[in-house]
Amino acid sequence: MNSSQDLFDRAQAVIPGGVNSPVRAFGSVGGTPRMMVSARGPYVTDVDGVEYVDLVNSWGPAILGHAHPRVVQAVQDAAARGLGFGATTPGETELAELVTARVTANGVSPVEKLRLVSTGTEATMTAIRLARGYTGRDLLVKFAGHYHGHSDSLLAESGSGVATLSLPGSAGVTEATAAQTLVVPYNDLEALREVFSTHGDRIAAVITEAAAANMGVVPPAPGFNAALARMTRENGSLLIADEVLTGFRVSAAGWWGLENRDGVEWTPDLVTFGKVIGGGLPVAALGGRGDVMDHLAPLGPVYQAGTLSGNPVAVAAGLETLKLADAGVYSTLDTAADILTWAVSGALDDAGVPHAVQRAGNLFSFVFGEAVAGGVSDYDQVRSQEAWRYPPFFHVMLDAGVSLPPSVYEAWFVSAAMDEPAIRRILAALPDAAAAAVRATPPL
Ligand SMILES: Cc1ncc(COP(=O)(O)O)c(C=O)c1O
Repeated sequence: MNSSQDLFDRAQAVIPGGVNSPVRAFGSVGGTPRMMVSARGPYVTDVDGVEYVDLVNSWGPAILGHAHPRVVQAVQDAAARGLGFGATTPGETELAELVTARVTANGVSPVEKLRLVSTGTEATMTAIRLARGYTGRDLLVKFAGHYHGHSDSLLAESGSGVATLSLPGSAGVTEATAAQTLVVPYNDLEALREVFSTHGDRIAAVITEAAAANMGVVPPAPGFNAALARMTRENGSLLIADEVLTGFRVSAAGWWGLENRDGVEWTPDLVTFGKVIGGGLPVAALGGRGDVMDHLAPLGPVYQAGTLSGNPVAVAAGLETLKLADAGVYSTLDTAADILTWAVSGALDDAGVPHAVQRAGNLFSFVFGEAVAGGVSDYDQVRSQEAWRYPPFFHVMLDAGVSLPPSVYEAWFVSAAMDEPAIRRILAALPDAAAAAVRATPPL
């Protein structure tokens, strides 16, 4: 028995399922999660001293790789000044200014004001409360397979952990709450038009992952986000672009920045951020139009608060990470994504595994099976794949020292610290992993 097994047994005795977030439990790939004790650059090391090239990267925040010396230094300096004061600090303003300046394309920014919170869940939960408070309407529209955190209204047909666990939503969410969320197939404007024609005057907001990456990666069809912006405006509702995952990862200005690089075609009313904005510590944010944001307390009637919101140590990590995430970093991330998608796809081809590469900027994932080999654009298609080919692929990679996301419904996350030895290790493991995927058999 290795130490990870011992420690996971102990964890299961005192922590539900042994984990503090479900997808870490290896539920969909089987086996024992490795207990990780340290990480540096492109590697993460488990309690037995085994080092893995990391393609989870803390589920997104670690775009610079792990424990970047300047980020660690900024955190240490901030901690030495005090762990938190429960009062406004200059760093919060600096971070808000940096975000509004960065999330700009062609002189336009959808982020005029920013409120810091601690998790992506809080950011999206606040965004929908604010949208309801601002519009005076009750209904919310989300897309099937999009994950916006685990607040009650947003769990209907979520991807990611919920897909992995095969739960339609969650026990404990009342029918009354669920009934206020209308779920529409992704990339289906006709379905959205229908929902607006029936319920238009009650819809407070449409929330969308700017590019979906919690059912595997499923980019928006060209013009889809712009159509959402048009439709919400015409109907007096707000568009919430959830960039918790894509924000500051796929470009300096997130997915919105990528799509609007050559001319601003659409602008969300509200945007949510998380992950990279905290550089690995708990920072998330809600930003958007000044007139909407000013409806938040203390200026407006929509209440929102947080003891640890804008915590100075966490803000220091986020600030330093964003300052370091320059054009060179994004170009390294893009190159790493190019190499890995090419290599994984090549290995799967060589082994004879039908598949498609799903990509949105430097985020990517793979879907398996003949039926989806042309690529997927919605949750039903994602769920029709041969998901059972992934666990053996995953475990061969893990045994070869490569840590992939433990679910086929997750994006792979590259970091700018991925150097040649790290990439070589991944490439070397691929033929055996692809062979395991081709040998896999469907569950009975
Ligand atoms: C798009 C999106 N929104 C919201 C969340 C929730 O963020 P958090 O896990 O920080 O609560 C996530 C988390 O993965 C996400 O990917």
